Amino acid sequence: MKLKDKVALITGAGRGIGKAIAMHYGREGAKLALCARTAAELDQTVKELRAMNVEAEGWSCDVSLEEPVKNFIANAQKEFGRIDILVNNAGVMTRPAPMIEMDVKKWDYTMAVNLRGPFLITQAVLPIMIKQKSGSIINVSSMIGRGAYANFLAYATSKWGLEGFSQTLAAEVRSSNIRVNSVEPGYVATKLTGFSGSKPESVTDVFVYLASDESKSVTGKMLSSSGWQSQVK
Ligand SMILES: NC(=O)c1ccc[n+]([C@@H]2O[C@H](COP(=O)([O-])OP(=O)(O)OC[C@H]3O[C@@H](n4cnc5c(N)ncnc54)[C@H](OP(=O)(O)O)[C@@H]3O)[C@@H](O)[C@H]2O)c1
Repeated sequence: MKLKDKVALITGAGRGIGKAIAMHYGREGAKLALCARTAAELDQTVKELRAMNVEAEGWSCDVSLEEPVKNFIANAQKEFGRIDILVNNAGVMTRPAPMIEMDVKKWDYTMAVNLRGPFLITQAVLPIMIKQKSGSIINVSSMIGRGAYANFLAYATSKWGLEGFSQTLAAEVRSSNIRVNSVEPGYVATKLTGFSGSKPESVTDVFVYLASDESKSVTGKMLSSSGWQSQVK
């Protein structure tokens, strides 16, 4: 069990990649503090984890809103006493469109969830990790955040921003023994992609690696779910 007794907080764990990471972490012995906006999906994830005898709790929370985020982290800390792993997974992608047709509301929504969300969640979790003098933060990016893909301007900008966030924070918290890395999961069959692509369960190994002590010297890296083993050699 690579994550025995570690406490992992995962955003957007009601379905898709976040749920698959939660199930894999649970199998590796972690205790789980989860959030998403849709309570019914979150409850289902928690139910499936508890059926595997995994300690898990879910809180309905929109990661882009300050007060709900503060309450979520305070509740998770109260329930589990510590936070060893943070996976900033919650994310949205609106329908691809050329820039001249893009509604500014969609731009703002994308930035709010994909960038403001990780900022708010991480800012609330960091004092706990700094006090513990340890922690692993994993940000879910995208290949669209590492290359040029036409018609994805808002999503691409948010994910490129998230890569910058990861690199900068990695440099800032290194001396507190907190690691920050990002992962691009490939093309995965979830609601976000209309359920085409690889199975969510097939992209989670790198998330276990980055959360575990196996990667204790790895920080500031941009890994891929498909090629991470060769990237960390
Ligand atoms: N699928 C892919 O091919 C792919 C590729 C590259 C990167 N990604 C990234 O992977 C992450 C997960 O995406 P996915 O494909 O698994 O999509 P998904 O199936 O739509 O799942 C997204 C999860 O995030 C939650 N979420 C969305 N907005 C939220 C908010 N404001 N506050 C809290 N939770 C929120 C959703 O629940 P609620 O809607 O109930 O809140 C859901 O649980 C995203 O960051 C995405 O950008 C996906």
